Amino acid sequence: MKVAVLISSRGSNMQALVKASLAEDFPAEIVTVLSNNPDAAGLEFAKSHNIPTEVINHRDFENREDFDQAISDYMESKQIDLICLAGFMRLLTPEFVNRWRDRIINIHPSLLPAFKGLHVHERAIESGARFTGCTVHIVRPEMDDGPIIVQAAVPILQDDTPDTLAARILVQEHRIYPEALKLMAERRVKIHGSVVKIEDAREDETSLTNPLA
Ligand code: GRF
Repeated sequence: MKVAVLISSRGSNMQALVKASLAEDFPAEIVTVLSNNPDAAGLEFAKSHNIPTEVINHRDFENREDFDQAISDYMESKQIDLICLAGFMRLLTPEFVNRWRDRIINIHPSLLPAFKGLHVHERAIESGARFTGCTVHIVRPEMDDGPIIVQAAVPILQDDTPDTLAARILVQEHRIYPEALKLMAERRVKIHGSVVKIEDAREDETSLTNPLA
């Protein structure tokens, strides 16, 4: 499976995906890392791992439709099967999402459907919830919406700040995003309306059965 990873800045999730994909038996190949931001730090990492990079700067386009069309054209030129959003901070148009339906996945640092959108760690702490986490899901036109592939939960501790909580969640993000990509590449992610069922889920795929694993 040919995969494109879309980033906007740091790209630590992209790094986790790249590292996982370098394993000999990994069923997906990351063929390009694309950024809307020419200064995204993650681009250097991709280059240093000989992964082709591309910048499509949203500022060069008059509207979202044209920007998304340019991304779509680029994906087609690379014969991309799956798009992984990894800290890609641009909203995609419904036309783009529908054009690539069931072929775009995203990671979000909360247990969706709780805390969609921005400032999620701050909002999770302020809510008084005892747990939060991260989610990899199939992308639908609504922001942070779509069938859930994998989640991991982490506790919210009494003295957490948004930064300490974000760091605890990020560790789990780096674990579950490669896991979700692998499931997609193995074509074991079966979408039934708004619900994903993993075909032949094994007991050792712990985060599928035990979110605190
Ligand atoms: C991550 O927390 C991800 O869940 C969210 O944006 C952040 C991106 O971080 N969508 P990085 O660029 O992958 O380091």
